[in-house]
Amino acid sequence: MSCRRLPRGCLGGVLVLLVLGAAESFAQQVARPRVAQGSGGAVASVCPYATRTGIEVLREGGNAVDAAVAMAFTLAVTWPEAGNIGGGGFMLVLPGPGQPVWCVDYRETAPAAAKVNMYPLGEKSLGARYVGTPGTVAGLHLAHCRFGRLPWRRLLRDAIQLAEQGFEVTEPLARSLNRVLQDPDSKPFDGLRQTFGHPQGRPWRKGDRLRQPQLAATLRLLAREGPRPFYQGKIAQQIVAQMQASGGLITAQDLARYQAKLRVAVQAVYRGYTVYGAPPPSSGGVCTALALNQLEHFPLRKWGADSPRTWHAVAEAMRRSFLDRARHLGDPDFVTIPRFLTTKTYAARLARGIDLQQATPSRELAPDLPITAEGTQTTHFSVVDGQGMAVANTYTLEMSYGSRVVVRGAGFLLNNEMGDFNRKAGHTDTRGNIGTAANLPAPGKRMLSSQSPTIVTRGGRVVLVLGSPGGRTIINTVVCLLVRTLGLGEPLPEAVAAPRIHHQWLPDRVMAEQCNDPRWEKVLQGLRRRGHQVVFYPGTQGDAHCVAVDPATGLLVAVADTRRQGAAAVLRPQRPGNSSPPQQGKNVK
Ligand code: DON
Repeated sequence: MSCRRLPRGCLGGVLVLLVLGAAESFAQQVARPRVAQGSGGAVASVCPYATRTGIEVLREGGNAVDAAVAMAFTLAVTWPEAGNIGGGGFMLVLPGPGQPVWCVDYRETAPAAAKVNMYPLGEKSLGARYVGTPGTVAGLHLAHCRFGRLPWRRLLRDAIQLAEQGFEVTEPLARSLNRVLQDPDSKPFDGLRQTFGHPQGRPWRKGDRLRQPQLAATLRLLAREGPRPFYQGKIAQQIVAQMQASGGLITAQDLARYQAKLRVAVQAVYRGYTVYGAPPPSSGGVCTALALNQLEHFPLRKWGADSPRTWHAVAEAMRRSFLDRARHLGDPDFVTIPRFLTTKTYAARLARGIDLQQATPSRELAPDLPITAEGTQTTHFSVVDGQGMAVANTYTLEMSYGSRVVVRGAGFLLNNEMGDFNRKAGHTDTRGNIGTAANLPAPGKRMLSSQSPTIVTRGGRVVLVLGSPGGRTIINTVVCLLVRTLGLGEPLPEAVAAPRIHHQWLPDRVMAEQCNDPRWEKVLQGLRRRGHQVVFYPGTQGDAHCVAVDPATGLLVAVADTRRQGAAAVLRPQRPGNSSPPQQGKNVK
C-alpha cells in the first residue's frame, strides 16, 4: 500500500477555495485517485467500460439518469462481483438545480417464505436460500421512466455488446474472478464456473476476453420488452426454476409482487451545505445525518486533520449513530422510524455525551439492550450532467458475487442480501451481531442496508456526489469524506486518497486504514490513548467514486478512487465528440 502525496494541481471544485484559504492541511494518502476536470458532464466509477458508457450516453444528449442506467447495465457485465441485474440498490437523483432530491429504492425484498430466525448465527450466507427478490431491473426502469430522456433500449446497448462480443479483462477483474473461482466455498456452484471460468480452464489474465452470451440474450430481452420478462415472464421462470433446483425461496408470486419505490431523500444541513442521503430501508442517510449533526458541535476545522481529537470526535459520533441504527432502523413499510433521529436537538444531546478525553464504552451507551459477551461486494458510481442533474448510485449483490448462484440459461448472478436481516431475535453480541426487532425478516420486507449514495448541494446546486461499497463501513467512508471536504476543507482528490476510519458501535473498536505517514500514526496513537482499541484493515476501506462541482465556475471534477480500480472522465462540450478518455486507476490492494 502506497502513501503518496498528491500534486497541488489536483484541487477539487468548490473545495479549492476552502483549502487555499485554510492552514496547511495534509491528507495522508492511501491511494492516489484519478482525476478528470471539465464542464459538460462528469462520471466516476470502478470500471473503465462503465465510465466510457456513461460519457457516451451524455455525449448523445442523455442526462445523468440515462448515463447512470446505462452504467449500471454495463457494470452488470464488466464488474460481475457487484454490478448486477440480480441484486438491488439505491439511486439518489437531483433532477436539477433547486429541485427536491429523490431516492429510487430498489432494495431486494424477503420472499413470502421468509421467517424470523431462519438463518443460524455464524452460517455463511451463500447459496439459494439467501437470495432476496431482486430489485435492480425494476429500479433502473423506474428511474428511467421518471427522469430519463433517451430511449430505454439505447441504455442497454453497450451492455449487450460487451456481453455478446466480450471485452478485455482488466487486471483487477482477472484477480477478482480468479479469487472467487479458486475459493473452496465456490465448489458447489457449477453455474459460477460455467459462466465465469476461463474457457481453457486456466486462471484469468489481463487482456483475456470474457464473453457472456446468455447474459447478452437476457439483456436483449429486457431492452426489447422492459422489466416485465424479469418479473412476470421468461426470466422470472428461469429464476424460479433455479430456486427450485437449488433450494431457494423465491416464487413466481414474489417476483410478480416486487416494486421499486420512489422515496424522499433524508437531508441534513452541515456547515451551510445540504447533505442528501438514502432513506430507510437504507440506514445510510439517517446515520450520516446523525453523525454530521453531532460533529457540528466540535471545531474540527480548527483542530485539523492531523489532530487525534478530530478523529476521536468522529469515531464517537459514528459509535452513537450506529447504536441508533441498531435500535430503530428497518424497512419503513414495516417499522416506524422515529423522526427525532435526524433532528439537531437530538444530535446536540448525543454530542454533549461525548467525552473528548476518553472513549465511551459501547455497552455503557445501551444499558437497556441485552448484549451477549463472546468472543465486500458493492459498487458506487457518481454522475453529473451539464444541466446540473446529479445521480449517486450504489447497488450490490451483497457479498462479492452474491449468493454465487447463477440463473441457468439467463447467465446472471443472484444476490445473497437476506444475510442483511438481523439473524437471531434478541441476540445482540459484542462481535456485532444485532438482534433488535426493527430489522428481523418478514415476508415482503426489505432488509436494512448501509448503502449511502449521497448528494451535497449549496444554494440548491450540486457541489458533491459520493458513495462507496463496504457493508457497514460504507456509511463511515461517506462520513470521513464529508468531514474531510465540508468539515476540514480538503479538496476532493485529497479527501478520497486519505486514510479512513470506521466505528460501528459493536464490536467496540476503531477500524483504521494503514498509512505509513507519521502524522496518521500520531492520530491513531491519540485514539489509543483515549481508550479506543484500534485495529488495522488487512486491505482498504471502501471505494469512493465521486464528482465535485464548483457552483461559481461550473467546473466538474470527477475523482475515481483507486483502491480497487477506478476510472474518471468528463465531457467537454465546447468541442462536440471530444471527451477525456477514462483514466484507469492503478490497483493498490
Ligand atoms: O446493503 C448493504 O448494506 C450491504 N449488502 C452492502 C454490502 C457491501 O457493501 C459489500 N461490499 N463491499
